[in-house]
Amino acid sequence: MTALVQLSVTALDLDAIAARSGRVVVLVSPDGKLGQAARRINRLTKGALARFLESAAFETLKEGEAKDLAYPTGMEAQAVQVVKLANQASSDLCRKAGAAIGGALGKEGALVLPGSVKRVEELALGLALKHYKFTDHKTGDEKSAAPEVTFAVSKPETVDFSTVTALAEGVFFTRDLVSEPSNVLTTTEFANRLVELESLGLKVEVFEEDRLEELGMNLLLSVGQGSVTPTKMVVMQWTGGGDKAPLALVGKGVVFDTGGISLKPAGGMEDMTMDMGGAGTVSGVMKSLALRKAPVNVVGLVGLVENMPDGKATRPGDVVTSMKGDTVEIINTDAEGRLVLADVLWYAQETFAPTAMIDLATLTGACLVALGNENAGVFSNDDAFCNGFLKAAEAEGEGAWRLPLGQGYDDLIKSDVADMKNVGPRWGGAITAAQFLKRFVKDETPWMHLDIAGVASVKSPTTLAPKGATGWGVLALNRMIDEMNKEG
Ligand code: BES
Ligand code: MN
Ligand code: ZN
Repeated sequence: MTALVQLSVTALDLDAIAARSGRVVVLVSPDGKLGQAARRINRLTKGALARFLESAAFETLKEGEAKDLAYPTGMEAQAVQVVKLANQASSDLCRKAGAAIGGALGKEGALVLPGSVKRVEELALGLALKHYKFTDHKTGDEKSAAPEVTFAVSKPETVDFSTVTALAEGVFFTRDLVSEPSNVLTTTEFANRLVELESLGLKVEVFEEDRLEELGMNLLLSVGQGSVTPTKMVVMQWTGGGDKAPLALVGKGVVFDTGGISLKPAGGMEDMTMDMGGAGTVSGVMKSLALRKAPVNVVGLVGLVENMPDGKATRPGDVVTSMKGDTVEIINTDAEGRLVLADVLWYAQETFAPTAMIDLATLTGACLVALGNENAGVFSNDDAFCNGFLKAAEAEGEGAWRLPLGQGYDDLIKSDVADMKNVGPRWGGAITAAQFLKRFVKDETPWMHLDIAGVASVKSPTTLAPKGATGWGVLALNRMIDEMNKEG
């Protein structure tokens, strides 16, 4: 488990600055005007700060960027980090500035002097999110305790980090799950970690294979047939909102995707440890909702399964009957995510009659071809619902782009022997996958499918995350859930 930085707030004490070890971070507005704390640092350093602020180096810094003044005379600190940020800066810029602090942070921690910057919580969120490193399987020094970060402000009672912590804990939960190798994060281990969330007030139920058989969830079961780690479905309920029908979040939790009998090529196959990213995001959202005691009803359902080749594995050409009753010809065992989701989507609707439903999945390479690592693919049968999410995602800086659905695409998954087949032709692969899912969504259920194949885990750093697992979607879904609740 990766621990968050330890965030605290204290009353600004100018006399404490000189003796502070580790890093001292001072925020300075683009006009270079010194606030109270900056003036003290400038005096202690015999004018070094003011000289920096008059330099071309400060001039060329963009807002939200930072520069270190190393080993300043007159101070105990190993560095004074100067962050350029206007007092009224937007949430986006405040998070970016926070990320500059979090990215540079070491185990010694930091004293942050935000001056008159208004959005201190956004600063802290950016800081916490960017300071992430998955070191659970490193031995030795790289494994370090969570650093302490103290924000010294004139009115500490106006700052509250509880929501920041709840959100960041959710994102870290998702990132840790996505980062885990598949020999550690088996379906059993995944389910155990979700059961632990019961201590936060979530109701968590684990469905084992015999229950899934009774329910007729044969599509889900067919994916796991070749694996020794058992197929499971986990249902997490958060009922902070009385007895209204819930929103349902459904996640693809393929703990490893070899492709099955339609085996994937060896190159890059190790990336398929992240094929449970949809389930990881659903789990992170549920954890955040519980931590911040959100006044909403949300049910999270994840299908946990491993896609392996084996004597018992599903073959190309097999026909399997879904929980809904429709039959599927499995042309390609590597198109397994849609099989997992189809049964879990159906179960969610039959059991909870949700007000709306969102599924998340690292579903198709085709989505990566279309949108790269910048945007998740969004598909929906309901414009208002979809626009609500797109707005939330934009506000959180999480890329999301809507792609079309239509009868012409649905026609491409007709089968000669069954009600449908599990793949279409090569072109439009992200869309035919979405059309497959849509066949398991009732007309009256507002629904959205998020293909996160390109955004769940990335090879280079993003604004708020180092390279690797991003936790994409946890913030956007939290925001959308709040907005939906406000609208009633
Ligand atoms: N898990 C993969 C999709 C994927 C690819 C996720 C790259 C993340 C990065 C999915 O199960 C898959 O194998 N999809 C196939 C579908 C095809 C057989 C129709 C694909 O995209 O190639
Ligand atoms: Mn696959
Ligand atoms: Zn997959």
